[in-house]
Parts: sequence; structure tokens; C-alpha cells
Amino acid sequence: PVIYVLNGPNLNLLGTREPEIYGSDTLDDIAGQLEDRAQELGAEVEVRQTNHEGHLIDWMHEAQAEGAKAILLNSAGFSHTSVALHDAIKAISVPVIEVHLSNPHAREDFRRKSYVGEAAKGTVAGFGALSYLLALDAALRL
Ligand code: DQA
Repeated sequence: PVIYVLNGPNLNLLGTREPEIYGSDTLDDIAGQLEDRAQELGAEVEVRQTNHEGHLIDWMHEAQAEGAKAILLNSAGFSHTSVALHDAIKAISVPVIEVHLSNPHAREDFRRKSYVGEAAKGTVAGFGALSYLLALDAALRL
């Protein structure tokens, strides 16, 4: 099974971006950990990052067309603003698991609302890079 792992804005800067909040792993490090874990579980991950909202939507449509088993989505700041991402999740039958490195509920008020979380199958947040690995395990048990 193929799992899409889609990452939104500013996550290309992981490693140097507010490491006290997001940790010191780069997105490449996280992708490597996901690939290793996927291999152990007999699965495959397709890890991508973009700073553009529409790319995330196109990739969700692609995941559906390609018959992906699940999508792990860290839509970063767009999580808190994007009706279009919410609608895209509703528009496909592939289950979407929302992922965050930090715990948005323990931060500023404006992070408490997630349009993505309101449409997602579930959310894993607050465990740093481990959030992605836990979400991968969950995706493969759906
Ligand atoms: C984030 C949390 C979001 O609130 C923030 O805008 C991000 C990263 C996380 O992974 O912790 O860019 O999605």
C-alpha cells in the first residue's frame, strides 16, 4: 500500500525553523524515518512538501486517482485557514490523517481551530517527528 505524506508551508525549513517548537530533524530526516518504518511494515510512502495551497489539493486528488491507502497531511498554517483543504478531504474517499509536530492546542488561540482536523479521520499532534510515525502506523491499520 502507498501512503501519501503531504507537507505544507514552511516545513521545508524544518531543522532550523523554531527548533525549540519543531525539533531539529529536517523534513528529509523525517522522510527517511518514514521510509524505514514503511519498509518494515511492507508499505511505501510518497513524501512531498509545498508552500502552495493548491498543490496540496492537486496531490490529494492524485492520491485518490492513484488508489493510495491513506494520506498523512501536515498542512501547517493552512490547517487553520483553509476551507478548500477541508473540502478536498471531504471530496475524496482516501482517509486523511492530520499530523502536527507541535500540539496546536497548547499554543496560540489562532491554532486551536483546524479546518483540516474537522474533516480528517483523526489527528496526531504534539510528538515531533514521532507524530508522523504514529500516524503511519494508524494509516496501515485502517
Ligand atoms: C504545525 C503547526 C501549525 O500550527 C503551524 O502553522 C505549522 C506547523 C506543526 O507541525 O506543528 O507550520 O503544523
